[in-house]
Amino acid sequence: MSDKRSPTADLLTTFLVLCTASLGLSSDMCQEDGSDVFNVLDYEVVGDGIRDDSTAFLAAWTAACGAVLDTSTLYIPEGSTFLLNPAKFQGPCMSSSIDVQVYGNIVAPDIMAWTSQNLNNWLIFSNVNGLTVSGNGQIDGQGSNCSRDVCFFDCQALAFRNCNNLQLSGLTHVNGPRSHISVVGSTGLTISNLQITAPKDSPNTDGIDISQSSNVQIHDCIIETGDDCIAMGGGLANINITSVACGPGHGISIGSLGRGGAMDTVEEVHVRNCSFTGTMFGARIKSWQVGSGYARYISFKDITLIAAANPIIIDQFYCTTDKYCTNKLMFKTEAVQVSDVTYDGFYGTSITDNAVKLSCSETVGCTDIVLSNIALTSQYPNHVLSSSCLNAQGTSTAINPVMDCLLP
Ligand SMILES: *[C@@H]1O[C@H](CO)[C@@H](O)[C@H](O)[C@H]1NC(C)=O
Ligand SMILES: *[C@@H]1O[C@H](CO)[C@@H](O)[C@H](O)[C@H]1NC(C)=O
Ligand SMILES: *[C@@H]1O[C@H](CO)[C@@H](O)[C@H](O)[C@H]1NC(C)=O
Repeated sequence: MSDKRSPTADLLTTFLVLCTASLGLSSDMCQEDGSDVFNVLDYEVVGDGIRDDSTAFLAAWTAACGAVLDTSTLYIPEGSTFLLNPAKFQGPCMSSSIDVQVYGNIVAPDIMAWTSQNLNNWLIFSNVNGLTVSGNGQIDGQGSNCSRDVCFFDCQALAFRNCNNLQLSGLTHVNGPRSHISVVGSTGLTISNLQITAPKDSPNTDGIDISQSSNVQIHDCIIETGDDCIAMGGGLANINITSVACGPGHGISIGSLGRGGAMDTVEEVHVRNCSFTGTMFGARIKSWQVGSGYARYISFKDITLIAAANPIIIDQFYCTTDKYCTNKLMFKTEAVQVSDVTYDGFYGTSITDNAVKLSCSETVGCTDIVLSNIALTSQYPNHVLSSSCLNAQGTSTAINPVMDCLLP
């Protein structure tokens, strides 16, 4: 559609003809006078938010990914809304890095269109190293009507699989059918300056889910959803989460780990300067009974709570479905080991009277749990906060509520 072409498109066409003819290169390699920008407008998009543009996007992706360049850019301009059916942006790419610049808006089709195809993801980037996704565009998963009956599968809006050195920043993500962003199998990644929003009562709408990854930084995000703000699964190491404002939602979770007897490991997770506003949990570690592995070397520091329920919680008896709720059997007490967890500087208000809950298994327990500078008060007048403790050991200084099980 010539009226949708970028102003320089006609010049480029002339250039492409000359380039392919004189150098014997494929047109993709001659794209935009040897420069590196692949604009979706040059791939016959419609951009009306109604008709499907995924074929055009994938054609632009194939060109960008196949170009032999240091960096190739997939450019999604502002001013249009692109409806994309489920699409897989597959690597590895020929260019050493790929910049996806999202300034326009991207919307999902009706949720039925993809769940009926048994798809777990709407948009997935797979095996792309050196991928940057940035811009101020919006990604709308149209999930606001997604009920448990419709979302049989994971229903992840934007997924990254095996994308090393991923950088994701600037975008707004709304109404994920379930999780908004999911990262698995990636090392060296930064997620920053995102705004993620879904209704408070939308089930399973995690902000960011991450597992099987290492060397991760997540900073300066605002995440308001119906489930976990950030959920960390097994196989994680070296994660810094800084300046993330969570709420509503379920807070920052490590776990659930050890589901169905799985061996899961999480270590070196450091959460700094984060806030929980109106969340159902704050700093949370949860594991299923009968799992194995560990969650260790974890810290939460400088945390602000505003009317949050359950500000600090370790739960080694986590269970949501009867299938894996083996903890009902008293002798099944193996669990993912929780150790070396530090909570330092928690300020604000709790809406549950039991503000600190350490609930650990008889067999492995929780060890070296350190609480300091915990100044929590009830959101309600005349309520005194309490704590509870089962099989947890460690130390505490300057904390309210006090913890009998932790040494001063
Ligand atoms: C949700 O459902 C209502 C009624 O069926 C419909 O009008 C609306 O467009 C749907 N919203 C989304 C985002 O699918
Ligand atoms: C996390 O922060 C610590 C302390 O500032 C730093 O030493 C470490 O390199 C950071 N890790 C990552 C993955 O950014
Ligand atoms: C703490 O996080 C808030 C956003 O929640 C940010 O505005 C502030 O600059 C951060 N402070 C530091 C010291 O990083």
